[in-house]
Amino acid sequence: MTPAGMTDEARGADLPQVQFRPMRLEDVAAATRLEQDTYAFPWTEGIFRDCLRVRYDCRVIDLNGDVVGYGIMSSGAEEAHILNVCVHRELRCRGLGRHMIQMLLDSAGQAGMRQAFLEVRPSNVSAVRLYQTLGFEQVGLRKGYYQSGSQAAGGREDAVVFKLDLAVGMPGPIE
Ligand SMILES: CC(C)(COP(=O)(O)OP(=O)(O)OC[C@H]1O[C@@H](n2cnc3c(N)ncnc32)[C@H](O)[C@@H]1OP(=O)(O)O)[C@@H](O)C(=O)NCCC(=O)NCCS
Repeated sequence: MTPAGMTDEARGADLPQVQFRPMRLEDVAAATRLEQDTYAFPWTEGIFRDCLRVRYDCRVIDLNGDVVGYGIMSSGAEEAHILNVCVHRELRCRGLGRHMIQMLLDSAGQAGMRQAFLEVRPSNVSAVRLYQTLGFEQVGLRKGYYQSGSQAAGGREDAVVFKLDLAVGMPGPIE
């Protein structure tokens, strides 16, 4: 599936072996390592396992058998929530994160979800920019939502809440 307007180059034509596929239980250890390498306050292996167990939409970016990214989304009551998206730091800015999110959003729309939500740290400039260019708009602010290494703010950081209206039931673009 190639999202409308996305060229092969934009999602990493220099990485022909890259595959977007469902996460399996055996991917959890690698996803957890990537998570720990990325975030100061990472998800545990148990959280990834729980996401699989409750059948959230869990996908990985697979490069030659290595997990180099993932995306996790929950859906229900006509709302999708993108809970986590991550791309290996050496593979960023090649369109992989955008493609992962677009795939999740397409799938949510086809499943009848009307809106997608996510939270992000305002300090996460690249993620904020990515969501804005996908059409997400800020609809709220959760004060002190995240743990933070900065003691200046009492060890907490706000979360921006973003929302996107989805095209319900639209067939996804064909690859
Ligand atoms: C956020 C993240 C998933 C984006 O993945 P990515 O594969 O690098 O993103 P893409 O290459 O698809 O970039 C898409 C857009 O993001 C924005 N972006 C990406 N990196 C950026 C940067 N360093 N500065 C500003 N904008 C940036 C741009 O708008 C870019 O669009 P463009 O290429 O048309 O300019 C990745 O940076 C990541 O894993 N970050 C750490 C984990 C994280 O913060 N996840 C989000 C938590 S809410």
